[in-house]
Amino acid sequence: MSKSISGFSKLSKVKKIDWIVDTYFSNAENAKAVLKQYWNDNEKLQQLHDEFIENTITNYYLPLGVAPNFLINDKLYTIPMAIEESSVVAAASKAAKFWLNRGGFKTKVISTTKIGQVHFIYKGDFEKLKQFFNEVKPKLIHDTNTITKNMKKRGGGILDIELRDKTNNIKNYYQLHVSFETLDAMGANFINSCLEQFAETFKNEALDFQLFSDEEKQIDIIMSILSNYVPDCLVRAEVSCNVEDLSENNSVNGEAFANKFVQAVKIAEVEPYRAVTHNKGVMNGIDAVVLATGNDFRAVEAGVHAYASRNGKYSSLTHAKVENGIFTFWIEIPLALGTVGGLTGLHPLVKLSLEMLHKPSAKELMQIVAVAGLAQNFAALSSLTTTGIQEGHMKMHLMNILNQFEATDIEKQTLIEHFKNNTVTHSAVTEAINELRIKN
Ligand code: HMG
Repeated sequence: MSKSISGFSKLSKVKKIDWIVDTYFSNAENAKAVLKQYWNDNEKLQQLHDEFIENTITNYYLPLGVAPNFLINDKLYTIPMAIEESSVVAAASKAAKFWLNRGGFKTKVISTTKIGQVHFIYKGDFEKLKQFFNEVKPKLIHDTNTITKNMKKRGGGILDIELRDKTNNIKNYYQLHVSFETLDAMGANFINSCLEQFAETFKNEALDFQLFSDEEKQIDIIMSILSNYVPDCLVRAEVSCNVEDLSENNSVNGEAFANKFVQAVKIAEVEPYRAVTHNKGVMNGIDAVVLATGNDFRAVEAGVHAYASRNGKYSSLTHAKVENGIFTFWIEIPLALGTVGGLTGLHPLVKLSLEMLHKPSAKELMQIVAVAGLAQNFAALSSLTTTGIQEGHMKMHLMNILNQFEATDIEKQTLIEHFKNNTVTHSAVTEAINELRIKN
């Protein structure tokens, strides 16, 4: 039976592991060996990983793959992707190669504004609160000067502070709704520090505001925090070509392909059950690059899905049309990313990934990430509307199934050859490996 523990966080790593393996595993030595297998021999590197989070007991590896041949605004990129799912990197690579000879991807950053809010309760006259806000606003900005000094020098900082009346939603609830430009930083720490300073100044200054009654002076700050909903931190990526150029080696009819593809996107625009899966495919590409570049994929996920629901119904992140014989496929997506701060200067593989991407600015990274999402969706829809997803996906997944059976190198070679001409399913692989083992 499990037991609770007090003071776990204060134990050494070795003691933490001892407690875990003794508490949860019938074979403690074996569990310990598995954890140890993933430690890095390089002590400095291991310590870096230990200190990224709390209560670290080992490292959890994800493969880092690369998808070459991405032509983005006439510049070639190889995109690093950290992901566990087979066929995603292959799909991105295939889409990149396809568009390489059709003009590549065109991208544009539409806006880069980020938002933070101070949520508070004020029991009193709104007109007086407005008057107080207008009076205190310059001081709010002034009191953050030490926090914003460097960001301002680089051209960013606080863009505006608005007072918002939310009493229609919750009694006595108001906000300071603040917009920021954080340039190459994702900006979470910067924004939160500014907000906490606003909250303190706002609360303290209220105590001295002559027009407020005693009750009105007692502004109750509920919380101060950035928003991961960033509909004004938006990037667009697009591909387009003549419909007939969609045909590769005349193997498919370009017009038929385009029409079916556009239909598939339209279905995702109107049908939430499909939209969620469609967008999951987009996020296969987005998350993998966001992770490889040390950004916060939970923040990106939350913001993207909120954006996909912005019109009151969950819908597709991508869109497609055929007009005057031209096929166009595009995405507009909110992405708050950083290329400085956070893990970007700490994690050696993140640094390597960013260097591989020509050390992009945050704006450039937004464009690269949007392209990865669009490419992924293009590959998935191309498969879905032609061969079906399983053929390509299972071809890539074959190695995972073989590994489940602990296939030897020779068995792998034989079965990879066999499945070049046979459909991969879990049962077909099981049957083939059993037959092979009986024969030998
Ligand atoms: P294929 O045509 O059989 O591949 O496609 P190929 O062997 O002819 O190679 C063509 C190119 O594909 C290669 O060019 C590579 O760029 C890439 P080359 O390098 O030879 O010059 N490629 C690979 N790259 C790296 N490693 C490989 C590899 N194989 C091909 N081993 C492929 C096969 C899987 C690419 C194709 O069928 C495909 O794109 N399928 C879609 C797969 C997909 O979307 N996977 C995501 C997981 S499924 C999912 O979660 C999302 C979904 O539900 C979303 C939705 O519903 O919208 C589907």
